[in-house]
Amino acid sequence: MKIKSAEFVVSNTNVINCPKERIPEYAFIGRSNVGKSSLINMLMERKDLAKTSGKPGKTQLINHFKINNEWFLVDLPGYGYAQVSKKKRAKFQGFIEYYFKEREQLVCAFVLVDSRHDPQKIDLDFMQFLGENQVPFCIIFTKADKLGSSKLGKQITSYKKELLKYWEELPMSFITSSANNFGRDEFLKFIEQVNEDVAQDFK
Ligand code: GTP
Ligand code: MG
Repeated sequence: MKIKSAEFVVSNTNVINCPKERIPEYAFIGRSNVGKSSLINMLMERKDLAKTSGKPGKTQLINHFKINNEWFLVDLPGYGYAQVSKKKRAKFQGFIEYYFKEREQLVCAFVLVDSRHDPQKIDLDFMQFLGENQVPFCIIFTKADKLGSSKLGKQITSYKKELLKYWEELPMSFITSSANNFGRDEFLKFIEQVNEDVAQDFK
């Protein structure tokens, strides 16, 4: 898929106020600092479309971006950021969960996990939550540039093995790096295919 346009639309804390337009929507979720906003910029070939930071907790709202006038990409706040007060974290968690439960246009969530890390409880819990709410999801292994290819392969194999303890079938997964554009074409091809597959439902 060629990216012809990528525009910021609106930021919200409540799914009720999210854009009403019925077009396919994809959302990025994962721990703070895992690289959600950076991945959006990499995919869209835009440096500052989504705000990024070395410090966790940068994205604090539900951010809608409209791509090629055909689909939405959504950047969300990260979960599990210890520096944010408990009260604020609970609020984040609340509106994020509400978004996933209520957003009808959402066709797929992407759960981002750092390629270097073993499965973390908070991510497994979130996948479980998505499963319980019938939200289709894929896993994206981020920051692949931080590992050599043999280590990367081993780490991902062991991550998947661990997942099979909880899931009968593995979700689809992608490996990406926002530092060197790794995984961009494959990911965009996937979106293009899903957009075609769901087109009937959005007529
Ligand atoms: P929150 O908005 O706080 O939840 O974080 P986020 O998940 O949106 O992460 P963000 O994209 O802001 O990136 C966090 C940090 O990781 C930044 O310093 C990025 O430059 C860095 N980063 C993100 N992706 C990559 C990557 O693929 N490779 C490398 N080396 N660094 C990355
Ligand atoms: Mg962010």
